[in-house]
Amino acid sequence: MQTDAVTKERAWRTHEELPLNRENFEALCRFDLPCLRITGFATDSECEELVAAMDAVGLHKTYKVPGLKQPPRYVGLTQFEKRQASKDDYFAEVDQAWHEHEAVISKMPWNPFERMWKLIRELYPECTLTLAEEPGYGRYYAGIIRDTTGGGTLHADVTMYSARDYIISQVVNQITWNFFATHVDGDGGKTTIHNRPYRVETKPGDKVEIEGFNRSYVDGAETHIYAPAKGDVVMFNSHNPHEWTAVDEGQRRMGVSSYIGRMPDGNFIYWS
Ligand SMILES: [Fe+2]
Repeated sequence: MQTDAVTKERAWRTHEELPLNRENFEALCRFDLPCLRITGFATDSECEELVAAMDAVGLHKTYKVPGLKQPPRYVGLTQFEKRQASKDDYFAEVDQAWHEHEAVISKMPWNPFERMWKLIRELYPECTLTLAEEPGYGRYYAGIIRDTTGGGTLHADVTMYSARDYIISQVVNQITWNFFATHVDGDGGKTTIHNRPYRVETKPGDKVEIEGFNRSYVDGAETHIYAPAKGDVVMFNSHNPHEWTAVDEGQRRMGVSSYIGRMPDGNFIYWS
């Protein structure tokens, strides 16, 4: 499996963090670029408004990450955190998560998610971009509002493995975007992206873990390290394994994130 992955691997075309446009977005989908950066997605005061809203509401949920002293805290709901539970369990929590989301967003004069969706719609006027919907279950949750100060362990976000019986497993590309609302400096808080899309040979019905897999999977892979910057969005192909370090003492790494996926018909869906 791994030999195969290695031989098929291509080097990234550049390590420059290129801006969001159609050509670069397509290249990101093809694994030709490590990431894109939207510099100045929000102003300093908009960033401060988000952080103040997060602090006022409080981030009361925690990712289940074994081995992490301070796992990310968040508001909302992620499908991957429910991957060991049933589909009913996930969809039963969607409405509540949207209420939590609304509690934060209603305290702000702007909406980072709507801003992002507008950019993608402008980029692909001939396509639709809609909240993911599961036949027979209804809408997904989309839009994690989170504090990732304590770091994140190596994983890949691949719905064909973590959401096999969900409609989101049908996406042909899975892009994650991360907006950063705080200034982080020093060595901490940086994300490493490994140029080795996560692929595992499986038999039908096999479960594949997208987190906690052996580090040797990324041995020898090309890497790109990006630094979060207040006001910027960084997008990358979430099939590439990634991880980030805890920030230096006294700093916080706050922001929002979701996935954008492309369906086989070319239209886009989003979810978390
Ligand atoms: Fe991730």
